[in-house]
Amino acid sequence: MTQPLIIAFDGPAASGKGTLASVIAADYSLPFLDTGLLYRAAGHLAHVLGIDPAQAAQRITPELLNDEALRGREAGERASQVAAIPAVRAALKQFQIDFAHQPSGAVLDGRDIGTVIAPDATVKLFVTATPEIRAERRWKQLVKLNPALTFDEVLSDIRIRDARDSGRADAPLEKAGDALLLDTSDLGIEAAIAAARSLVKDRCGDN
Ligand code: CDP
Ligand code: CDP
Repeated sequence: MTQPLIIAFDGPAASGKGTLASVIAADYSLPFLDTGLLYRAAGHLAHVLGIDPAQAAQRITPELLNDEALRGREAGERASQVAAIPAVRAALKQFQIDFAHQPSGAVLDGRDIGTVIAPDATVKLFVTATPEIRAERRWKQLVKLNPALTFDEVLSDIRIRDARDSGRADAPLEKAGDALLLDTSDLGIEAAIAAARSLVKDRCGDN
């Protein structure tokens, strides 16, 4: 009997991991979880309700994950702040582990999928790009929501978030030893998708 496929995508903000993960999930007909949304929802709910972030993490509903507010700049910043709190990570951990290990297999993207949530993943990709390239990509997304936002503000956000995510003690952003590195700095989205497909296929076959 073949083992279920678990495919882990990790990497810093706007590296392209979410786009690549959702394409691979569709290719292999696997359920997909954007784990960053869980941290965005916890930070947002804690802010809106004025409650403890770990309590907020326990009150996330599927409807909340569709809230447009989670896509904004503030939600990303708040997510990274609450993600450094061990009680928040603990509250969200089992759901992610169960999602990754469901019988069908799964694709997840985040910061600690290959290191903490699914160290047993069939294939792990660590997706990255230079801070400037990532800031350009993220600025293009966010300026549609806030036309006054500048590239420099987004670059500053990205640098702060990178440092916080990599520097925290609990489940920091880091490449798993057995993860495959995919640097998308010089790749457009189509080329990045082709590179991810090739790396996954080498490890998993066509399934
Ligand atoms: O899309 P982007 O990479 O900008 O952010 P995200 O994946 O939505 O994650 C937002 C924040 O949540 C990150 O900056 C991390 O601090 C945190 N996060 C985490 O700690 N662990 C995860 N598995 C996913 C996100
Ligand atoms: O999930 P993550 O924050 O890592 O990034 P994303 O949301 O997948 O990608 C951020 C933006 O960069 C999206 O608009 C992608 O289409 C774009 N992108 C790109 O232009 N070129 C790449 N090689 C990868 C992503």
